[in-house]
Amino acid sequence: MTQRFSGKIALVTGAASGMGQATALRMGREGARVLCADINGAGVQATARAIADAGGEALAATADIGDPAQCRALVDQAVQAWGGLDMLCNVAGFGGLTPMQAETPETWQRMFAVNVHGPFYLSQAALPHLLARRGNIVNVASTAGLMGQAYMAAYTASKHALVGLTRAMAVEFGRQGIRINAVCPGGTATPFLQHFTVPDNAALDLIGRLSLRPDYAAPEDIANMICFVASAEAEFVNGSLISVDGGVVAA
Ligand SMILES: NC(=O)c1ccc[n+]([C@@H]2O[C@H](COP(=O)([O-])OP(=O)(O)OC[C@H]3O[C@@H](n4cnc5c(N)ncnc54)[C@H](O)[C@@H]3O)[C@@H](O)[C@H]2O)c1
Repeated sequence: MTQRFSGKIALVTGAASGMGQATALRMGREGARVLCADINGAGVQATARAIADAGGEALAATADIGDPAQCRALVDQAVQAWGGLDMLCNVAGFGGLTPMQAETPETWQRMFAVNVHGPFYLSQAALPHLLARRGNIVNVASTAGLMGQAYMAAYTASKHALVGLTRAMAVEFGRQGIRINAVCPGGTATPFLQHFTVPDNAALDLIGRLSLRPDYAAPEDIANMICFVASAEAEFVNGSLISVDGGVVAA
């Protein structure tokens, strides 16, 4: 295994499960010290333990990234533990498949709190540290950040907002030596998919266009791209929206 992240410090949200867990594990294996953050405390402790068991260094933090104060506390925790921050991976997300007219104010607000406000406040808190160490941010958006998707109006709007945040930050700070990118997965085999059951009376042809392949990506397929984008190998990649979706947005 390469050691692309020797001496680097990472904060990964959503690290209890799926892509965030796979990212934290890979960064840990490749030499990063990783603050694993998630609202699922037991899950995130298990991820941090797995990194330590493999010979790496990690801490676990239970946090709700929908709360700005908890976002700031996460960045403070990484900086206090290890003296800085090189990589912020905003992987945690919230979503589901709901007809637009049935979406409630509560789920709309939660979608934006987790998918947009969390990454925004984490980025604000991380920025001085990333600027100090020429670090970078990888946001996990979605194909829903790049195209319209039926029965996902709130989720699609929130992921487009995250894509907009990525691009705006990339322009505002690109000259100062830091990079901000978004990885945009398609369907990936994680527990997240359980929230995406097809609504009654849905037009199946509208949903069918979201997959070209019979299978889903593995969380490691997405983690591989997140790690590449976060690494020095991607030194000239900034403000990019990188699909890992088996070709869905190309169709
Ligand atoms: N799985 C897919 O098909 C798919 C496709 C495109 C994009 N995505 C995006 O990928 C990202 C990762 O999802 P995944 O598939 O690995 O799902 P997952 O359910 O396996 O992991 C998501 C993690 O985020 C955590 N989380 C949720 N709300 C949180 C909060 N408020 N504070 C802290 N942690 C919170 C959950 O506890 C969970 O551990 C999400 O942003 C999701 O929108 C997923």
